Amino acid sequence: MIVVFGSNVLDQFFHTADLPPRDTALFLPTHEEAPGGKGANQAVASARAGARVYFSGALGKGGHGRAMFDNLTECGVDVSGIRFFDEYPSGIAAIFVDHRDGTHKVVVSEGANRIAKQEWIPDHLLNQNSIVLVQGELPIEETEKLVIRARKAGGRSVMNFAPATKTLSPELLQNLDFIILNEHEAEAVGKQFSIDATDKESFATELFHRFNVGTIVTLGPDGALCVCNDGFISISSLKIKAVDTIGAGDAFVGYFTAGLDQNLPLRDCLRQAAVAGSLACTKVGAQTALPMPDEVASRLGEILIS
Ligand code: RIB
Repeated sequence: MIVVFGSNVLDQFFHTADLPPRDTALFLPTHEEAPGGKGANQAVASARAGARVYFSGALGKGGHGRAMFDNLTECGVDVSGIRFFDEYPSGIAAIFVDHRDGTHKVVVSEGANRIAKQEWIPDHLLNQNSIVLVQGELPIEETEKLVIRARKAGGRSVMNFAPATKTLSPELLQNLDFIILNEHEAEAVGKQFSIDATDKESFATELFHRFNVGTIVTLGPDGALCVCNDGFISISSLKIKAVDTIGAGDAFVGYFTAGLDQNLPLRDCLRQAAVAGSLACTKVGAQTALPMPDEVASRLGEILIS
C-alpha cells in the first residue's frame, strides 16, 4: 500500500501568460477549476495506476475542501487519514497558463495544509509492505519524522521534493529510498548541499553516494535520469506537443511509486512514469490531465531506456 502524506489544493486555471500592471485589472472570459495539490494529484495517479492508496492531510472550512475530499474518494483513494479544521481555509492555487508553450506560473495559498501532522498516520500502516509518498508542500519537519518512522518500520519512502523551497536535512535524505526532482529542484538541492547541479548526471551520482538515496531527475522533453543501486539509467520521454506541463511531475511520481508498490522491475517503473508524465502534458490541468492506465500501457514501447 502507498501512504501519501500530502497537500490538497483547489486549482484555478487562468489562461494568460502575464499578470496586469499594478492598479489595473485583467478580464478573462472564463477559467477552469479542478482539485489539485501535489499530494492529492500523486495519490490519484498512483490509484489510477492500480495501487491501494491511503491519504493523510488537512482540509479547512468551505465547500471546496469537501469537494476535494469527495473527489479523492471517487478516485478510489482511502481518505480516512484526512482531518478537517474549521479555523483554516483549504489550500487554493491560482495557475496562470501560457498557451504559447504550455508553461505556467503558480501562486498557492497553503491554508490547512500548513497544519498537517504525520502522527495522524497510525503505526500499523507503516510496515515492510508500505511505501510512504511525500512532497514539498507540507511542513518539512513532519515529513522528515514520517520518513524516519517508515524506515524504522521496515517500509520504503519516496519523496518528490516539489516545490524545493524548504530546507532538506541529511537525516531526511538518508531515510528515503528515492528522491524525485525536476531540473530546478535539483539545482535548489545542489545549493543546499554544495553539490554542483549543472550536470544532472553528476549531481544525481553525488547525491546518491552522499546520502544513499536513489536520485531521479526529470528533464522535461529530454526524459529523466536515475542513479541508484541499479546504477545509472537514462529514460526518454514521449514525443508530444505540450499544451500544459502542470501536473506532469505528479503523473510521473504517482505512476513510478505505483510500479514500486507492485514490485515491478525498476526500469518498468521508470518507463510507465515517463509515459504518464509525457501524456499529462497533452491536456490542460493537473489532476484532469492524469492519463488512464490503458493510455499509458499503449505507449510504453515508445520509451527508450539505457
Ligand atoms: O504539481 C501541480 C500542483 O502544484 C497543482 O495541482 C497545484 O495545486 C500546485 O500545488
